[in-house]
Amino acid sequence: MRKVPRTRTCKPNRTVSIIGTGSYAPEHILTNADLARMVDTSDEWITSRTGIKERRIAGPKEFTSHMAAKAAQVAMEQCHIRPEEIDMIVVATVSPDTFFPATACHVQRLLGAKNAACFDVSAACSGFLYGLEIGQQFIANHTYNTILVIGADRLSSLVNWKDRNTCVLFGDGAGAAILRSRDESYGVITTYMGSDGSYGDILSMPGGGCALPVTSENCEQHLNTIQMNGKETFKLAVTSMQNAALRALQQANLEFSDIKCIIPHQANIRIIEALADRLKVPMEKIYVNLDRFGNTSAAAVAMALDEASRKGCFEIGDYILMVVFGGGLTWASSVIQW
Ligand code: ACO
Repeated sequence: MRKVPRTRTCKPNRTVSIIGTGSYAPEHILTNADLARMVDTSDEWITSRTGIKERRIAGPKEFTSHMAAKAAQVAMEQCHIRPEEIDMIVVATVSPDTFFPATACHVQRLLGAKNAACFDVSAACSGFLYGLEIGQQFIANHTYNTILVIGADRLSSLVNWKDRNTCVLFGDGAGAAILRSRDESYGVITTYMGSDGSYGDILSMPGGGCALPVTSENCEQHLNTIQMNGKETFKLAVTSMQNAALRALQQANLEFSDIKCIIPHQANIRIIEALADRLKVPMEKIYVNLDRFGNTSAAAVAMALDEASRKGCFEIGDYILMVVFGGGLTWASSVIQW
């Protein structure tokens, strides 16, 4: 029997469900062997330190909005939603096509979703769950009925391809979910979000904004590429995802034994293994696809959710837990009854 979540009591009585999911990864595969020909690295180093074997790289004319729209189309086909039924499009990304218009507006144009209000969310790898919570709130509060939430990133355009510390980690892709209120009780149970701006420097792209505009000097110093303190990022990723997972479960009034599948941010298998160890959950309960896609930032958890649901890793009525971490720092977790 379903337990009654604690947070439900203070929320409007309208259950918000994910009625369709979709994902998209570019065709071009960049393997560890390919990278070993570009920088001083090896398949052995990358595999043992990260678990990543290959990642997808977008074509030169394939932008974040194109990948996002393709993932959205797959999700819309699954639940038979027409573009004009979408009331709002939220795109979580840190690699927008343009500063403005928002990538969500580009996606609107590509889909023909002319009735949607569109904006982007910047929360790095945590963005998809931030978008999910925004969408759930708008539906729960009876403002909108149908919301498209997308996590999409083209980090290949933000990576310094000469920096072996970072270029081996990331890939491109997009994942999408359609939210709607449903009569059944299944849906988003609770979402928890948190941030700590004091750790902003450990994972950032310092250049490109008004603080360090695009100049040839700044570009020569690679300030418009991803900068990362790997060791600090690793530690904070484990701790913040551990705390976020526990918090969401507490809010949902559930135990780990109630959860059928855990879908974490797909950054590094060692981070995921350390998380599993701290939470005392078996790795078999955790969905992993980073070996094939690398870290696709805001897309990662959304792509994994779509894959896991299509593979039948959970069924209607099962509880799933998503937990993420990203630059900002940001973190989030969400419990959903599928
Ligand atoms: N190939 C070969 N050697 C490398 C590579 C590489 N690709 N990258 C670094 N090295 C070298 C380093 O230069 C260092 O050499 P040195 O000892 O001579 O100085 C050596 O390997 C060890 O480096 P460490 O940093 O100690 O390696 P570590 O075991 O910590 O692994 C890694 C590095 C994989 C980056 C790890 O710290 C990590 O995964 N951190 C988290 C990264 C992450 O997940 N970032 C994104 C999360 S948030 C988001 O998704 C936006």
